[in-house]
Amino acid sequence: MKIIRAKDYKEMSGKAADIISAQVIQKSDSVLGLATGSTMLGLYEILISYYRNGDLDFSKVKTVNLDEYLGLHPSNPQSYRYYMDQNLFDHINILPENTHLPSGMVDDAEEECAAYDALIESLGGVDLQLLGLGLDGHIGFNEPGEAFIKESHCIMLDESTIKANSRFFDYEDDVPRHALTMGIGPIMNAKTVLLCVNGKTKASILKQVLFGPITPKVPGSILQLHPHLTVVADEEALLIDKF
Ligand code: F6R
Repeated sequence: MKIIRAKDYKEMSGKAADIISAQVIQKSDSVLGLATGSTMLGLYEILISYYRNGDLDFSKVKTVNLDEYLGLHPSNPQSYRYYMDQNLFDHINILPENTHLPSGMVDDAEEECAAYDALIESLGGVDLQLLGLGLDGHIGFNEPGEAFIKESHCIMLDESTIKANSRFFDYEDDVPRHALTMGIGPIMNAKTVLLCVNGKTKASILKQVLFGPITPKVPGSILQLHPHLTVVADEEALLIDKF
């Protein structure tokens, strides 16, 4: 595991964007596993600026996102498809058909999850998986539970996740209670994993994830077993007295 300390959110975003661009430069047809949420906004902005400056070419890149809310149409501004289009895809030269998220608009969530796993496999797996960290230790929407779940699955979101994500919605009641998420399998099978964490509210869970027992009660703790894990975190998330 490699831990890269950044001064603040801006520096974290820059360091993470540099790792992703190095991946794309090295392998132009990389499969990137992507995430949404506030952590990623800064680094996506930087990737867009690299593209605009002519330093990055996404024409052969393929992406698979971690998750999507169940029941939200892609045109809904709270959907993760909308977020990805708005914050990255619409501003770079990636082919829309090369961008993938689970669909939240399905009758049969299980069937959609099985199809998503098959899709990831057909792409040859993920080269670089970008992850944020939930306050409860979730990665993707793999919430704390009794066992790590390998396959993509439909999950009931934890109260703490609903509360945390309500900042993106008008009312807490509007936050969907269910989501589809990539399972632990493709995340752990990714050739490299890049975990980005910022802010003091995440210091305690980050410490548990990186140095606590490996347990499905803290889903991100499984990352300790990944052979190529890079963590980019700001000073607040890496509070000296907690490490
Ligand atoms: C979102 C995702 C989540 C977020 C996590 C942190 O696609 O996979 O695991 O990374 O909830 O969210 P933020 O960055 O909003 O704190």
